Amino acid sequence: MKNMNRIISVRNPKSPIAEAYRGIRTSIEFSNLDKELKVINVTSSTQNEGKSTVIANLAVSFANLDKKVLIMEGDLRNPSVHRMFNISNVEGLTDILLGNKNFTECVHCTDVRNLHVLTCGPIPPNPSEMLSSKKIKDFVESLRDYYDYVFIDAPPIGIVTDAGIISTYTDGCIFVVGAGEADIEMAKISKERLEKVGANILGVVLNKFEASGANGYYNYYYEQDTRSRRRGRRKR
Ligand SMILES: Nc1ncnc2c1ncn2[C@@H]1O[C@H](COP(=O)(O)OP(=O)(O)O)[C@@H](O)[C@H]1O
Ligand SMILES: [Mg+2]
Repeated sequence: MKNMNRIISVRNPKSPIAEAYRGIRTSIEFSNLDKELKVINVTSSTQNEGKSTVIANLAVSFANLDKKVLIMEGDLRNPSVHRMFNISNVEGLTDILLGNKNFTECVHCTDVRNLHVLTCGPIPPNPSEMLSSKKIKDFVESLRDYYDYVFIDAPPIGIVTDAGIISTYTDGCIFVVGAGEADIEMAKISKERLEKVGANILGVVLNKFEASGANGYYNYYYEQDTRSRRRGRRKR
């Protein structure tokens, strides 16, 4: 049994935070009307702004609509998707790209129906080269036949160019901004880098936003999350 309690959309699907993710899901669905929006990558300026958290919750949210969803690790330098889902990273994407394994040998099912995960596999010495190879482009193309949505967790674009490379073969990109953590200049540079490669920026998710003051609506969001996290911790 995989412990997916770190993902609030699994742990507490009725929480306002899970509801907020459903809101993002709806926005994506509406953006999907004219142009196919199937392969989506997530990035941010730096680490720890919440990319993996956002991608995991969005993927759960779509899987709950009976869509077939894959989360694919796109950070071949510092992979983390396997940790989020508590699964092994012994085999994964890099094995497929090197021709050592096939997709079915590497893909993981999860406790969420319709949600599959492909981890990184052995960390390669040449991540940018791998990410810009024809092999990975063909592989991502082939996933379109099996999945309704493929979410690729990309490295921070303010630090390495990998997310820009990935954006050239995805249909859209979500930019995560960690409130209070992101540097505005870095965020601008990141946006320019994405625009330069022609990324279709679908929108920005402002994460870790904690509103202070009397307007309790967003505080409520935050408190709910904190409370349920504490509950989650006690259980373990
Ligand atoms: N909205 C949030 N509120 C509180 N903590 C969060 C929130 N989003 C993410 N975190 C925490 O911040 C850390 C970094 O998040 P993560 O999704 O791993 O970032 P990234 O993938 O961008 O490096 C994790 O410990 C995660 O649990
Ligand atoms: Mg991450």
